[in-house]
Amino acid sequence: METLVSTWSRTSQILPKNYVFPVGERPGPVDVPLCENIPLIDLSAGKSQSQTIEKILAACEEYGFFQVINHGVSEDLIDDAMKVVKDFYDMPDEDKAKVYSTDPSKSCRLYTSGYNYANEELHFWRDNLRHPCHPLDECIHLWPEKPTNYRNVVGKYSLEVRKLSLRILELIREGLGLESGYFGEELTGTQLFVINHYPPCPDPSLSLGLPKHADPNVITLLLQGTVSGLQVFKNGQWLGVEPLPHAFVVNIGHQLQIISNGRLRSAEHRAVTTSREARTTIVSFINPCLETIVEPAKSMINDGVPLYRPFMFKDFLKFYEEKKGDTKALMDAYKIKI
Ligand code: OGA
Ligand code: NI
Repeated sequence: METLVSTWSRTSQILPKNYVFPVGERPGPVDVPLCENIPLIDLSAGKSQSQTIEKILAACEEYGFFQVINHGVSEDLIDDAMKVVKDFYDMPDEDKAKVYSTDPSKSCRLYTSGYNYANEELHFWRDNLRHPCHPLDECIHLWPEKPTNYRNVVGKYSLEVRKLSLRILELIREGLGLESGYFGEELTGTQLFVINHYPPCPDPSLSLGLPKHADPNVITLLLQGTVSGLQVFKNGQWLGVEPLPHAFVVNIGHQLQIISNGRLRSAEHRAVTTSREARTTIVSFINPCLETIVEPAKSMINDGVPLYRPFMFKDFLKFYEEKKGDTKALMDAYKIKI
């Protein structure tokens, strides 16, 4: 528990050396401008479906990121979920200690920084509660027992977010022209929640909540709340993603980049910290099942040459961990060399 940033930083105003990133990787003194170009897509039922699909595909090709509004998940449920996860981090240490673990193989755990703290040279300024969500009745018993409404609220919220993720995937499927049912259980059968907590940081210009990475999964839905911190790397520049209360930030993971044979982008992003207030985000990852073989969809291979070789998802995940954010080396290893 003493390694959690939220625990030790309560009594220290100093940024320890092992949180200071090298010059080229740290955010630096300037706040990046919030990017107004990351597309905002209205999912209201009244909108033309074909136009919505066009907008989503254009966003996935250009940015790998977009935000959705009027998405059908109730604002009250979103507020309740954000409140209960903040309540979780506000609990006394002895309650959080019940979920804290340094064992990476534990499926529900509270930990800090990256996947394996003990092996890190540099730490990230974040604590993280992580657990599976699907099928709900097979994993809810693993979740924190406190706050007492955690399981009820996060359970309902995870079902709604899953439904929305599948609805967006269905629009992408149609846009790409993939056969109906393409994103079935094999490709979407795992859902993981990551609840990031970034406490106020003594020097956000030197540290990072999460360093540059792209997500290894199929599709990610992120609830940013009202505090900014998410940045997307585009054309060599960092762009801030505006926090819009009740909107979801959607981004494409590596699996969708591979399935679409490189047409959709899995963009690199990071989380910066703030000195003023804590930031808590709820991230939902839709993943293939561990044993699923992933490969470019046949109909996406126009000239007969797939860009990527087939692989088992669990092997990809292992390699992803090993590569520690080196997206180029990771994806190059799966590219077919011509
Ligand atoms: C992640 C992530 C960003 C954020 O958890 O993979 O990119 O703003 N989070 O919390
Ligand atoms: Ni991410």
